[in-house]
Amino acid sequence: MTNGNKRNVVIKGTGHAVPTRVLSNFDLEKMVDTSDEWIRTRTGILRRRIADEHTATSDLATEAGRLALEDGGVSPEQLDLIIVATITPDMFFPATSCLVQKNLGAWGAACYDLSAGCSGLIYGLDMAMHSITSGAYNRALIIGADCLSKITNFQDRTTCVLFGDGAGACLVEGADRAGVLASYLGADGRGWEKLLIRAGGSRHPASPATLEAGWHYIEMCGNDVFKFAVRIMVEASLKVLADAGLEPEDIDLFIPHQANIRIIESAAHRLKLKDTQVYVNVDEYGNTSAASIGIALDEAARSGRIKGGDRVLLVGFGAGLTWGAMIIEWVDKDND
Ligand code: UT7
Repeated sequence: MTNGNKRNVVIKGTGHAVPTRVLSNFDLEKMVDTSDEWIRTRTGILRRRIADEHTATSDLATEAGRLALEDGGVSPEQLDLIIVATITPDMFFPATSCLVQKNLGAWGAACYDLSAGCSGLIYGLDMAMHSITSGAYNRALIIGADCLSKITNFQDRTTCVLFGDGAGACLVEGADRAGVLASYLGADGRGWEKLLIRAGGSRHPASPATLEAGWHYIEMCGNDVFKFAVRIMVEASLKVLADAGLEPEDIDLFIPHQANIRIIESAAHRLKLKDTQVYVNVDEYGNTSAASIGIALDEAARSGRIKGGDRVLLVGFGAGLTWGAMIIEWVDKDND
């Protein structure tokens, strides 16, 4: 959808948090039959951050959220809504967003979690935008946060080299001018088995047998997800560009989900984007799932890579299968 003439939303603040512990490709060489060379050339990843045994998703989400509030100059009590996008909640219930609310002291906020895999932050931003433009809410904190290391089999070299932990947050507020120029979400549940955790839910409740089978770990059809990712990132980007009446060259910064440098480069090439238009940090963090776009957005904003008036294109894909894209006109907070 486009968001031309009606009440809109702007991003007032961003934040991110990652664990301090670094797991390098060389560390992984000692754990599974892999090599730094394979990981670097096939994925672009050099290292990733891994949460310790005392850290859960809500801890990283709270820190990212706190920084976004600070960045936007908004106090926790002023929040109306907290959405946490995650596939690694602290527990089945209560929602991780309720734990974040407790940690922040955001007593006026309604809270829910959202499961859209690595598309989660864009799903959350889209939901918040509609909640705010409807007039029901005015300020929302959207946090994409995951600790994939907690659901990764570190004996499976086809998955364990890819993932890392982190959280990225956006503070969103109602405004009378265009902030979100276009937004688009999609899903195809026929691809549910391409990327999943098989057990622990109501289909296969956790049991000694599911543990024995390793069904509490991520399973992925890497090649199928790769092909889907390149196709859908291009399609979703072209859709929001068309909706906003823009061309790829009008985009100041393209922030794709950081899963694999080859996916990012293929999509950017097909969109005819220049390297300078594309944000990449997959080398540092690996694939942090719902956190990835939020971490990149916060880094780009804080480092001055995005300035007031810039047009930023976010695009993600993930388990479900799901996808989402959004074009945001950036607000210079200092001159707001
Ligand atoms: O956020 C969404 C989540 N997931 C993704 O975005 C993942 C999308 N997929 C990918 O990024 C890629 O498909 C992977 C990085 C997962 C795999 O790369 P690939 O180039 O598609 O490799 P492949 O699966 O075709 O495997 C090629 C070879 C295989 O060996 P053989 O059968 O050719 O002898 C694998 O066994 O590489 C082997 N291999 C490894 N070798 C060393 C797979 N993983 C590793 C490894 N180290 N870690």
